[in-house]
Amino acid sequence: MNTNRLSPGLQSALNSQMTKEAHASQIYLSYASWADDLGYAGVANFLFRHAQEERNHMMKLLEYILQRGGKVKIEAIPAPPPDPTNIQNCFEKVFEHEVDNTAAVYKLVKMSFDEEDWATWNFMQWFVKEQTEEETLALNLLDKIKIAGGAKATGDALYTLDRDLEKQPDDAVLAQEKTAEKP
Ligand code: FEO
Repeated sequence: MNTNRLSPGLQSALNSQMTKEAHASQIYLSYASWADDLGYAGVANFLFRHAQEERNHMMKLLEYILQRGGKVKIEAIPAPPPDPTNIQNCFEKVFEHEVDNTAAVYKLVKMSFDEEDWATWNFMQWFVKEQTEEETLALNLLDKIKIAGGAKATGDALYTLDRDLEKQPDDAVLAQEKTAEKP
């Protein structure tokens, strides 16, 4: 009797996504260490917290594969890319990684739709919402850096930004949660 409720294609794509989330966690760890080394403790704290979020995303995928009777395959995680060149570049890279991850999430949504695997389609909706939040958060941070002077931000502006980031909430508020009273 076949108790695996995932098709071979979806099982393989979900496993790849699990590794991609682990890779994202390593990227955040590496950028956090880079920031901490330069003295940006607030930026580092924010990025370390985010590394943990990515690990949670990895676990959600792992648990889902197991729950559907699928086979989990733990594979090697690629090395993170080179260090950022400055704080603005750091958050530009973060934004690019998130957009790249969104594309991978959308592929899984499409695959599950095409296969009419509604359980996986439903599970992946959580990731669609999460990616919108993460892209919004990265864009909000880039806006703040731009106001602080972008790549030419001065020591004072960077100091304030660094302190703000330590207290920055980990999730952005999405448009569907906004109202006229609370824009
Ligand atoms: Fe798990 Fe930032 O995507």
